[in-house]
Amino acid sequence: MIRILDRARPDILTLRPYEHAAWEPSLERLHANEMPWRATEDATHAGLNRYPEPQPGELIQHLAELYGVEPRNVLAGRGSDEGIDLLVRAFCRAGTDSVVICPPTFGMYKVSARIQGADVIEVPLIKEQGYALDVERVLAAWNENVKLVFLCSPNNPTGNVLDRNAIESVCRELADKAIVVVDEAYIEFAGVDSIAPALQQFENLVVLRTLSKAYALAGARCGALIAHPQIVELLARVITPYALPVQTIEAVMTFTNSTHRADAAKRIKTILGERTRLMSELSRSRAIRHVWASDANFVLIECVDAQAVMQAAIGAGLIIRDLRSSPALPDCLRISVGTAEQNTRLLRAIDAIAATAGDAA
Ligand SMILES: Cc1ncc(COP(=O)(O)O)c(C=O)c1O
Repeated sequence: MIRILDRARPDILTLRPYEHAAWEPSLERLHANEMPWRATEDATHAGLNRYPEPQPGELIQHLAELYGVEPRNVLAGRGSDEGIDLLVRAFCRAGTDSVVICPPTFGMYKVSARIQGADVIEVPLIKEQGYALDVERVLAAWNENVKLVFLCSPNNPTGNVLDRNAIESVCRELADKAIVVVDEAYIEFAGVDSIAPALQQFENLVVLRTLSKAYALAGARCGALIAHPQIVELLARVITPYALPVQTIEAVMTFTNSTHRADAAKRIKTILGERTRLMSELSRSRAIRHVWASDANFVLIECVDAQAVMQAAIGAGLIIRDLRSSPALPDCLRISVGTAEQNTRLLRAIDAIAATAGDAA
């Protein structure tokens, strides 16, 4: 057993997992209490009357190829959200263990930890250095009960990629001590390589990838957790037995084939062009105090009057993300890059309030 697995919950390590109905496609199924007929007009390939294959072999192979790893490194789940939840449940004892997060960051790390009854230690990113990772403080925050460190790169909501050497230092220093989870939900927009090949060096590294963003499949709910095969095996004991619906499996297989990958690449290119336009036009607006550089498909802005910008967006029929409840992000909003028409509509609405503010001044 790899040493980092000593850090998992002992009761999960010894758990006898649920024995799901055996997957034997060559035999006719009279072992899972399913209906032998499809529902009328069920047009799926596999048939919705049948439970799906748990961790479908073809899908796992496909995701492994998509992300450049081996199939045994991949656990497929319902989005990265499920990967986050599985890690917290498998590693953190309620009331005893904790996770480290680096705010401002994606909210689900904290929520999943709290649901599990795990403590959350916050080591803020360094704002003055463009929201860089504070390696020294992350390492100093470690104690015997810290099981997971969540790093998000590109980070949501600040948009920046974390320094690769900094992430690797954390993996190295915490080898055998904590799992380092690198959430790469937005990496396709960043023009940098995934850290996944570093699995060869770091047994404590877990990478999260999602089909929700670059592949336009948020509604399908599918993500890949990429890790050492023994971590994948452990988490496969915890995941619900038939996690991925038939439609999800079929949608991912179809919409990430070579034709759709080429389409995704074109869409990403368009988003990057629009991101540049949004960033430069927002930077010129008198209603905006600061625009952070983004490596993702969203832009973080600090407003002179965030409420006015929110209202202007709503008035233009658009909703943007209000981040003001985060203490680290006063007056901040996050804008997902939309179509050219949507971005133009938003920019005009913001221009209009800037003009009004200018008149008032
Ligand atoms: C950083 C980050 N990780 C994970 C997720 C969840 O993604 P999924 O749709 O794969 O559950 C999001 C969603 O916005 C995100 O921003």
